Parts: sequence; structure tokens; C-alpha cells
Amino acid sequence: MKKVKIGVIGRGCRGYGLMETMVLTDKYEFVMVCDKYADRVENGVKFVEEKCGYTPIGTTNYHEVLANPEVEAVLISCDWEMHIPIAIDAIRAGKALALEVGGAYSVQDCFDLVNEWEKNKVPFMFLENCCYNKDELLALNMARAGEFGRIVYCSGSYAHDLRGEVTCGAENRHYRLRNYLNRNCENYPTHELGPIAKILDINRGNRMVSLVSVASGSFGMEAYVEKKNANGEYVNPDLIGADFAQGDIINTIITCENGEQILLRLDTSLPRSYSRELVVRGTKGMYEQAINAVYMDGEREYWDPYEYAQNNLNNAEKYKEYLPEFWRTITKEQMDAGHGGMDYFELLDFANRLLEGRPMPIDVYDAAAWMVVTPLSEASIKAGGAPQAVPDFTRGEYKNRPRFDVTF
Ligand SMILES: NC(=O)c1ccc[n+]([C@@H]2O[C@H](COP(=O)([O-])OP(=O)(O)OC[C@H]3O[C@@H](n4cnc5c(N)ncnc54)[C@H](O)[C@@H]3O)[C@@H](O)[C@H]2O)c1
Repeated sequence: MKKVKIGVIGRGCRGYGLMETMVLTDKYEFVMVCDKYADRVENGVKFVEEKCGYTPIGTTNYHEVLANPEVEAVLISCDWEMHIPIAIDAIRAGKALALEVGGAYSVQDCFDLVNEWEKNKVPFMFLENCCYNKDELLALNMARAGEFGRIVYCSGSYAHDLRGEVTCGAENRHYRLRNYLNRNCENYPTHELGPIAKILDINRGNRMVSLVSVASGSFGMEAYVEKKNANGEYVNPDLIGADFAQGDIINTIITCENGEQILLRLDTSLPRSYSRELVVRGTKGMYEQAINAVYMDGEREYWDPYEYAQNNLNNAEKYKEYLPEFWRTITKEQMDAGHGGMDYFELLDFANRLLEGRPMPIDVYDAAAWMVVTPLSEASIKAGGAPQAVPDFTRGEYKNRPRFDVTF
């Protein structure tokens, strides 16, 4: 069976998980493993030896991966700062690429990515795995079938208590720490924005025209450090008394050309459970991920909110005919492979499309439009919530680009 000959760039936490899932798909041959840290390269090479029975080339220099003619595609799962520079180099080298998610650092970086891609048009996939998730696909398919009527509003969040990950950044050589110390922005918009952009046909008949962002103060990280220190638990001494720039809660409101509104919330430095909280609201009904519920207009003459919350909780199961086939037949092994199954489908889809020469459903224009929310939110927060225009990276083509959903 033909496999994708891949070079992995970034063998940190996510690179590790992705490589495990790639093995399970049986669609990838690891030609090279790269990380800027030699111990992570070694660990990656050993992993392939143990799981696959052959030895890939290891390197700390990603240019060597790009120069190797045996490498057909690269997986970029490095720090946010290096996403666009490495992606641009990969495009120049003619490699197909799968780029992990994260926000950009400037509007210009996003244009540079698109401009470079337009010169070379290599297969490009932005790895927004939440676009492959069960709930998000249920909502998408119900929206496509017109169940919610005319969609007016969508919201979602990246709500994930990352205080442990951020404060262990020096020990784990992790990029989030320097970002949280120095930036104040919607730093991780795509897990919720990606599926919403699909539902609203962003870059395919619709586009985001402007956004405003506001930030709460930054209290969570400092309180966390203080608490750990007071309890005698280990915390990096440099963080005691440190000022974190990142606000605890960032709300971003995006206006779309066709009249819809999107609300995103970044919520990563206060105690909480994980949630993406997708909400889709239309003229005929709504979907609400947090309580796994669908509410249809007219279901009840009189809607008692307390009764609704108790009786309709979890009723989305009733609509499972809208789930794609692969979510109905998923195995336990696939579910366990990463983020409840979505990573498996994403990586299988990328490989199948590449091997069969089919286009990617989340392309460079999506990547640029979703990643640009980060620098725009930073500018808006700095300017007291002032609106920022969202560029059209398709340069007008969004009007003609046909809808392209994640299907399998
Ligand atoms: N889609 C998801 O569900 C998901 C989940 C976690 C992380 N991520 C994304 O994956 C990426 C990596 O996150 P992580 O948590 O694994 O971080 P990490 O710090 O654990 O790993 C990143 C790795 O990239 C390496 N790297 C950085 N610059 C490099 C360079 N120039 N050459 C080679 N290697 C380089 C680092 O040394 C590090 O090992 C991020 O973009 C993150 O947003 C996505």
C-alpha cells in the first residue's frame, strides 16, 4: 500500500501524539524526524524504530528535512512563532504540508504565507482537528440541511485550564509561557473558529469583515503561582511575582459580510473544565454543545428554561442521522488515538487526499483567515476594543469559491 513519506518537524507534546495517531492510520512512512532539541529527535527516531521497525533520519535542522527529496510531505507541529516561517520554507521547497494550529503574529505574516503558496500551490492542510469532531460535524450537517433555518450567530470558546502547562513552560521548554508573559490577545482562536467558519461558509461565499476584542485583567496566572508557592509546591522561581500580560478572558466579536455574528472566548488561565462551547443559532433552532442539546422552534409553546435544561439535556443524540458515517462506525482504538477520534480522521483524511491527489478541505486561505484573528485581536485590545478590518486573503475569490466541507 502506498504511504505518505513524511518528515515530522516538531516532536514535542503534539508531535508525539500525532505520530502515534499516524501509525494507527497505517498511511504514513516516517522518513525524517526533526526537532530543535536533540533529545526529542532521538526519542522520535526510537519511537519509529519501536512502532514501525525501521529507522528514520533524525535532525535538529528542519532545512535538512526540506532538502531531502525522499520527503513528500511535512508535518509542522512546532511553536506558534515558527509555524509561518517553516511553512513558507516548506512551500518553497515544494513539499506538501500539514500545519498545526495556532494564531499568527502579524497580518503581514498571513499575507506572506498566502503569497508564497500562490506561487507554488503545494497541497496544504491546516490541521484544525475540531473540524473533524463529532459535535461540530453534527452541527454542520444540521445547518447544511437547513434544520436551524438562516444561521445568524455562532459562538465558541477555547476554554481550557492551562495554568499548569504555562507555568511549567521553562521546565518543558514550551512556547506558551513566553507568549503568556508578553502578549495579550486571542492567542488560540481556531479550535472554535474553524468549525464555525465552515458552518458560515467563510472564504466560500462569505467572509469575516471586522472584529473587536476586549480583555479582562490578568489575575489567574499570578494567583496560581502564588498559591503553589504558598503551598510549598514547586513553581519556577522566575515566575514568583512575575507579571503576565495575557488577560484571563478575551472576548472577540466578529462581523461577517452576510450579516452573521461570531463570538469567540479565550479562557485559559482560571480554574475550569475543558469546553469548546459551540453554539449555532438560526431562525428555526439552535445547537448547544455544552449541554449536547438541540432546540427547535415550536417544540414547546411555552419554554420553561429550567424544564428545558433538565429534559432536553443530551437530546442531540436524537439527531444522529446527521452524523457522518465515520462517526457512527468509529472503533475504540480510533477514539483513543487522540482527542476522542478527531485526530484519527483528520490524519487519515490528509493522507488519503494527498495520495489520491484530491484538494484539502482546510486550505491556506482558511489558515490565514483564522490565524489572523490573533494579531487583529491584539491590536483591538491595545486600542481599547477598537474595530479591526479582517483582510480578504482570497482577494475577492471568496465570492466564487464553492463550499467544501469535511467529508470522508
Ligand atoms: N490540534 C490540537 O489539538 C493541538 C493540540 C496541542 C498542540 N497543538 C499545536 O501543536 C503545536 C505544538 O504544540 P506542543 O504542545 O507540542 O508544543 P511543544 O513545545 O511540546 O512542541 C513543539 C516542538 O517544536 C520544536 N521546534 C520549535 N522550533 C523548531 C524548529 N525551528 N525546528 C525544529 N523543531 C522546532 C520544539 O523544540 C518543540 O519540541 C502548536 O502549534 C500547538 O498549537 C495542537
